[in-house]
Amino acid sequence: MCKSIYLTTAIDYVNGQPHLGHAYEKVLTDVLARFHRTQGADVFFLTGADEHGQKVQQAALAQNKSPQEYCDELAISWSNFIEKLGISHNDYIRTTQARHSKVVTTILSKLYKEGHFYKESYKGFYSTKEETFLTEKDRLPDGSFAPMWGEVQELIEDNYYFKLGVHQQWLIDYIESHPDFIYPEYRKNEVLGFLKNEKLGDLCISRPKARLSWGIPLPFDPEYVTYVWFDALVNYFTIAAAYGDTQVLSSIGLTKEDFPETAQQERQLWPADFHVIGKDIVKFHAVYWPIMLKAIGAPLPKKLAVHGWWQKDNQKMSKSTGNVVEPIAVIEEWGLDAFRYYVLRELEVGPDGNWTDAGFASRYQAELANGLGNLINRSISMLGRYRNGVVPARHDELKTDAENSCAAAFKCYSEIKIQGALIRIWELINRANQYVDQTAPFKLAKQPEQAARLDEVLYNLVEVCRILAVLLWPVLPKTSEKIYSQLGLHDSPDQWSSCQWGGLQPGHVVGKPEPLFPRRDLNK
Ligand code: ME8
Ligand code: MG
Repeated sequence: MCKSIYLTTAIDYVNGQPHLGHAYEKVLTDVLARFHRTQGADVFFLTGADEHGQKVQQAALAQNKSPQEYCDELAISWSNFIEKLGISHNDYIRTTQARHSKVVTTILSKLYKEGHFYKESYKGFYSTKEETFLTEKDRLPDGSFAPMWGEVQELIEDNYYFKLGVHQQWLIDYIESHPDFIYPEYRKNEVLGFLKNEKLGDLCISRPKARLSWGIPLPFDPEYVTYVWFDALVNYFTIAAAYGDTQVLSSIGLTKEDFPETAQQERQLWPADFHVIGKDIVKFHAVYWPIMLKAIGAPLPKKLAVHGWWQKDNQKMSKSTGNVVEPIAVIEEWGLDAFRYYVLRELEVGPDGNWTDAGFASRYQAELANGLGNLINRSISMLGRYRNGVVPARHDELKTDAENSCAAAFKCYSEIKIQGALIRIWELINRANQYVDQTAPFKLAKQPEQAARLDEVLYNLVEVCRILAVLLWPVLPKTSEKIYSQLGLHDSPDQWSSCQWGGLQPGHVVGKPEPLFPRRDLNK
């Protein structure tokens, strides 16, 4: 069985409603998953929810609910959310599922037995908001803790620690010898800078039940539950085990019988090819997770793709000030593909993004309605009007332009440069729209002696439309499918090999054009 391409998003804290950052990360990962599917790869795309920890326990308590009841209710709105985003995931993990606690418990027992943990007393400060211990270094010059940590509590308690420190040099060497492990490169440099300049402390992996009961109990000490990040990171591994990845199962001593529902699929998922995450959780994924895997004896994920954070109108989004983007409301007003397009076109994977409603509307009008939509609409309608929708003989005037865009888009998608891919695809759209203006088919149609020239122009236009559907499918799957169907094609534009020039056969009859992105009155 050959290895699948395995992509994951971070798993979201379900102590609130999903927001733009969650939507962005899922759409971005979906584009990568779909792109790899167009290459004929067997792709497995995982997303899910991080349901344990103090944050969730507190949020449940505030609503007088048990944490499980609270998570079960929220799971419904989260799954609607994912549905609305057109996400093509293969599984959805919830860290409260039995399959997950089985893997976490097994790993904890193994690492405990092998001497990776020790117990010690701790006195210090804890941020519930970020589920992490703070040190003196986290204090501001005036002695207080920054607002980003929320309310900070002082704690004195015994806990279990994972010996991270001993792996520090190994990790530095690993990152240096695997330059593609962390993308973009400046994030890699930040991690290396941190690892080279600070001594890595050991990681506290437990919470006393007296303080926090909402977690996976430690198999070797019933007075404790597992630290939520140790639990959460394992989710990526859980699914590999649950789908019967033989190497993963043997590394932790479980068998296919432990996962009767899915393990017979025997998918080889591990190591993950892409962990897509936001910039705030790099340390967990680039430091803690690799060391956990090293201790388990499993290979490291191939790549961490680290995206930036969204703001709105140059300010942090916040429910309390009302400065938020509601992805579902945007999708209802403008359509799913307009939303997907904007978040991927506005910024490259890496830097932060700034949402503005005016910027959204202007990209919609210029790039989707007047750019892509207009090209598809006029190409198919001219073929209908002048040739009864019948595709003329093949002609190659735009072939080189199309081939260049395909090659450039392929390279960009492969390198996680989705904005770059869209820019190159829009070069082809703009070229084809100019071609209409330059060749003026509406004039050619009035000159019978230009009939052969009109055939050539029309072939080039509809063939470019077809190729655009293939190039855009990862980002705009619904739109691409509509383009194919308006072209009278019955297959799906989901195979990259179809972007080869000459796919439309002479004599083929196209369908009726329908506006893909109706123009809006933006002055309303
Ligand atoms: O961190 N813009 O969950 P989370 C872009 N449970 N991305 C954003 C964002 C924004 N404004 N706000 C959040 C957690 N994100 C953990 C992860 S993984 C084993 C455990 C991103 O719900 C954030 O960077 O706080 C992260 O990648 C994801 O949303 C989930 O954040
Ligand atoms: Mg967060």
